[in-house]
Amino acid sequence: MPIPTSRTKNKAAILIDESLCTGCGKCVDSCSDFDLEMFNGKVRESANPVFGCIACGNCMMVCPTNAIKIEGRCLTAGDIFELPAKESVSDYKSLLSLLQRRRSIREFKDKAVEPEKINQILEAAQTAPMGIPPSDVHVLVLENKDQVHRFAEEYSVFLKGMRWFASNWFLILMRPFWGKANDEMMRSFIKPIFGVYVDKMEKGENWINYDAPLAMYFYGSPYADPADPIIAATYAMIAGESLGLGTCMLGAIHPFIQNSKNAEKFRKKWGVKYKSREGLFVVFGYPKPNFKKGVKRSFADIAFVR
Ligand SMILES: Cc1cc2nc3c(=O)[nH]c(=O)nc-3n(C[C@H](O)[C@H](O)[C@H](O)COP(=O)(O)O)c2cc1C
Repeated sequence: MPIPTSRTKNKAAILIDESLCTGCGKCVDSCSDFDLEMFNGKVRESANPVFGCIACGNCMMVCPTNAIKIEGRCLTAGDIFELPAKESVSDYKSLLSLLQRRRSIREFKDKAVEPEKINQILEAAQTAPMGIPPSDVHVLVLENKDQVHRFAEEYSVFLKGMRWFASNWFLILMRPFWGKANDEMMRSFIKPIFGVYVDKMEKGENWINYDAPLAMYFYGSPYADPADPIIAATYAMIAGESLGLGTCMLGAIHPFIQNSKNAEKFRKKWGVKYKSREGLFVVFGYPKPNFKKGVKRSFADIAFVR
């Protein structure tokens, strides 16, 4: 059975032009689904595919004679393009500099992000590895400060109606079910967040999304791998940095707009098509702070197996 996504439940069609096939076998080697095999010196569709063609496109990208075409699962031969020249690729040093200069930005200049830059962020984010093609990442774009602010105001009202979630009686009730670490996180992080988000907003301070001039919400569908939207959001963040924008991820919106009737209403109102296991907001804008120094961060643990 083909792998379902929110966009398609079919496998892609494999079209082979035998007159162009030289029998080099590169497509067979690169096929991620064992969908192709050699027969009498030519490639043909395998009788025993694992899932059916998932439309990764590898075969079209390696074929030296354009003898193979994939149609379906949101892919066509027209999606194949010439690679940028190797010399135009950023090297490790310039990539590391970009990453080291990045800081989470929570204060933005009163300047809109140009539509061209919004498109560039989306273009770059769509190069992210996407699990099983086609990508099941959905993006909601709030493309100006007014939209971003309105979202925060409505989210704050929505959150106010959920305050019971961080109340003492609920935390005591839930502790045996969700365990010590969750209990500690709820008390020390989530409970104060409810207060900060709602109370500050009522005083005119937006700590939810900082009145950024641009926000993007990356989320999946019930079919998506939970990692997919997070990876896409990370790519978008790095693209934003490369365009001279400051960025910040916002993790405290997605989890609360998943599991209730009101959450469903809120999602519907804002055009969020699915509830999903993971999702992430990223805000963008021209940064006010001008950091002079960086800060070294570290993983909790890096263990090499010897
Ligand atoms: C998944 C994720 C969620 C985050 N959520 C928020 C958030 O809701 N609000 C916020 O101000 N910062 C948020 N941040 C930013 C972190 O607070 C920030 O990365 C951290 O303070 C380290 O600072 P740096 O990014 O400048 O290194 C989030 C970061 C990540 C990775």
